[in-house]
Amino acid sequence: MPKDGSVVRLDGQGKPLWLVLELTYRCPLKCPWCSNPVDYARDETAELSTAEWKRVLREGRELGALQLGFTGGEPLLRDDLEELVADARALGYYTNLITSGVGLSEARLSALKAAGLNQIQLSLQSSERELTDTLVGARAHDLKVKVAHMIKAHGFPMVLNVPVFRQNIGQVEDILRLAEEIGVDYLEFANIQYYNWAMVNRDELLPTREQLQAAERAVQAARERLGDRMTIYFVIPDYYEGRPKACMNGWGSIHLTIAPDGVAMPCQEARVIEGLEFPSIRDKSLAWLWNESPTFRKFRGDEWMSTTCRSCDEKEKDFGGCRCQAFLLTGDAANTDPACSRSPHHHLIAEAIAKAHAPGRRIQPLVLRNDRNSRLLGEGGGTG
Ligand code: FES
Repeated sequence: MPKDGSVVRLDGQGKPLWLVLELTYRCPLKCPWCSNPVDYARDETAELSTAEWKRVLREGRELGALQLGFTGGEPLLRDDLEELVADARALGYYTNLITSGVGLSEARLSALKAAGLNQIQLSLQSSERELTDTLVGARAHDLKVKVAHMIKAHGFPMVLNVPVFRQNIGQVEDILRLAEEIGVDYLEFANIQYYNWAMVNRDELLPTREQLQAAERAVQAARERLGDRMTIYFVIPDYYEGRPKACMNGWGSIHLTIAPDGVAMPCQEARVIEGLEFPSIRDKSLAWLWNESPTFRKFRGDEWMSTTCRSCDEKEKDFGGCRCQAFLLTGDAANTDPACSRSPHHHLIAEAIAKAHAPGRRIQPLVLRNDRNSRLLGEGGGTG
């Protein structure tokens, strides 16, 4: 228990079990739902060096971290990826590569295998070349399918991650068929969360309840048909749940993310919350950042909670929902997540859904994640 007497809910017994390294914000794709900060291009701070990432790996293990995700941007753009994977394996991590697949050649797969990489999570956005390529702003579909087969041929367990939104939700059955053909072990339909680029494009991306229900029925039918051959996850968006998600298993509970510039965060979106300070691994030890940083301590336990959450019999289940979403929608990260039907701000969710699906609303082009749009959004301007 901390000195201030608040209860700390540390499911990992105080350990950052999940360590996520965002090796770079550079990416060959332009996904309009990207979870990277919208102003990523404004920050000219250099990415951590190989030696600095190795220090993070070492200090993470000392703190008890076990699961390690290499992500980005596109982590394959770092040519020290294999070296970092080998270092992580030697330290005893279970290593995951979270990738778009762009840049994953036979040679790199062999090198990653030799380095001891445990698992690969590959993203795929649709079952059709034209739609995938339009959505990600690059010719990527054929390459992704080829890479998926290569990953399997190299014997990696593979998670095929499909971000779900209005433009592709009608393709669930086709995507299931494609995944079956590839021999995917785990298929994750991840209804996107509305932060950063997805928030910019929320009106265009948000599906309807009916679309979600149809997709869920298709997933259920596939589960019955496929049995143990494929594990299929279907993550419903909290906008339609009425209950908030147990985001990150609670703030500062088991998740620790390091941004490309070394900033330590309790989740990948945390920099959206204004007023918090985000020290870097360049200034502090990982132990200090995890245990002492005011940012990590800010929403641990229940002292920070509003009466709505603190008196709620579900607070041990959902921890009041997502701090980033509470901030983005209400301007105060300590508020109950508006996705919760008990939140006094829950009407904001209903209003967002109604706005996105208002009869006669003019469809807008998706704002692609690219450097130009990032600079414009970072300056507070529109994207024109
Ligand atoms: Fe940051 Fe939920 S995404 S706490």
